[in-house]
Amino acid sequence: MPLYEGLSSLSLINEKNTTVVFDFGAAYTKAGFAGENGPRVIAKSEVKCRESGRLVPVFQYRDDDELRHHLVDFIHKLYFRHLLVNPKDRRVVVVESLLCPTKLRSTLAKVLFRHYEVLCVVFVPSHLVSLMTLGVTTGLVVDLGYQEATIVPVYEGVPVLKAWQALPLGGRAIHRSLCELLLDRALTVGEDGKEQRLSTVMEDLSDNVLEDIKVRTCFVTTLDRSGRLQSNKYDRSVEPPPPAPSVRYPMSGSRILTIPGTVREMATEVLFERDEDLLSVPSMILDALLKCPIDTRHALADNMVLIGGTASLKGMKHRILSEVRALVMSPPFSDVLQIKSFKVHHPPAKDNYVAWLGGAILGGTEAVVLRSLPRDQYLTNDIVPDWCNLAFNTKEEHDEKSV
Ligand SMILES: Nc1ncnc2c1ncn2[C@@H]1O[C@H](COP(=O)(O)OP(=O)(O)OP(=O)(O)O)[C@@H](O)[C@H]1O
Ligand SMILES: [Mg+2]
Repeated sequence: MPLYEGLSSLSLINEKNTTVVFDFGAAYTKAGFAGENGPRVIAKSEVKCRESGRLVPVFQYRDDDELRHHLVDFIHKLYFRHLLVNPKDRRVVVVESLLCPTKLRSTLAKVLFRHYEVLCVVFVPSHLVSLMTLGVTTGLVVDLGYQEATIVPVYEGVPVLKAWQALPLGGRAIHRSLCELLLDRALTVGEDGKEQRLSTVMEDLSDNVLEDIKVRTCFVTTLDRSGRLQSNKYDRSVEPPPPAPSVRYPMSGSRILTIPGTVREMATEVLFERDEDLLSVPSMILDALLKCPIDTRHALADNMVLIGGTASLKGMKHRILSEVRALVMSPPFSDVLQIKSFKVHHPPAKDNYVAWLGGAILGGTEAVVLRSLPRDQYLTNDIVPDWCNLAFNTKEEHDEKSV
């Protein structure tokens, strides 16, 4: 029974060769062993390109062959440099997004089965297993990762697939906005002691520098301050709130960058500015609720779970909650949603590896035996069962099961 159909009661297994758990992310991959309380490694999802020898993102590829090469090299590094175990005849849990492209998961299965000869693989949906860390079966899971923000409601252990939402609003969108703001407003002092605009010295900033600046200095401001900052942008007569203190950030060499308080505060606003279709992270949450059956909405709103590294930004959870509470009171949502209470869970792990921890809990149960794809079956059929493939999800199949 594939896992996207939901979870029923599972009991623990006790095995000599511990199952390996991977959560491949666009920016960071988490890898470790089932039954442990944290991943052994959180590695940047980068490999050395076989042609140029430069570090390139694993999931940036031109064709299937290149993706396969990237995965072979990257998984080799994970097994033999970080986990220090032999992949052969060992079970694997792969935590993946329900929206993961079929090509990616089939290439991953090919690499794991044919190249590394693993015993069996279980693909588990990240949103579903994140709830296992909390011991609840119902929740609105919001994953704020690097590439995108994805929302999948899970009701009584079953993902409500028709209500999923996704937008490219994650760490990468913040990096882009931060880069623009810094080039526009930040000042820098070089060896000569002269103060210049950053844009006169450099045209772009690397992703690593932007990430460091973001994690060390940026924060998510309150709804009230954000409203006043936005009003001031369009109408100068509106008094802006007092700015946050600026920060001096040492760059390479002896160059010092002065990051103004407004940049620290405004960089994360991209997640909340509604685009041309009036979509933002809070509006996606309400849209997901709207697409769920009416009798599930209160339970979902009361059990929101925010996961993914971007959710760790200071003030993020508070801001999302206050935006959602304000938005539900205003049209068009006030006409169709009658929800007064929204609550957020605190999972027992850092936000960026909650999904991995869910996979590690599941990897310690008999799901890895009963619901996995064994190597023999894969080698015979050469296909991975998937929820979007009608060969595995026909009406007759369901009818047979229910008999
Ligand atoms: N403590 C932190 N504070 C702020 N941002 C953080 C923190 N930790 C991680 N991040 C950010 O979270 C992002 C990575 O999150 P995560 O590991 O969930 O992404 P991913 O799983 O690689 O991406 P995706 O889910 O889109 O495939 C990066 O942009 C990183 O800068
Ligand atoms: Mg992720």
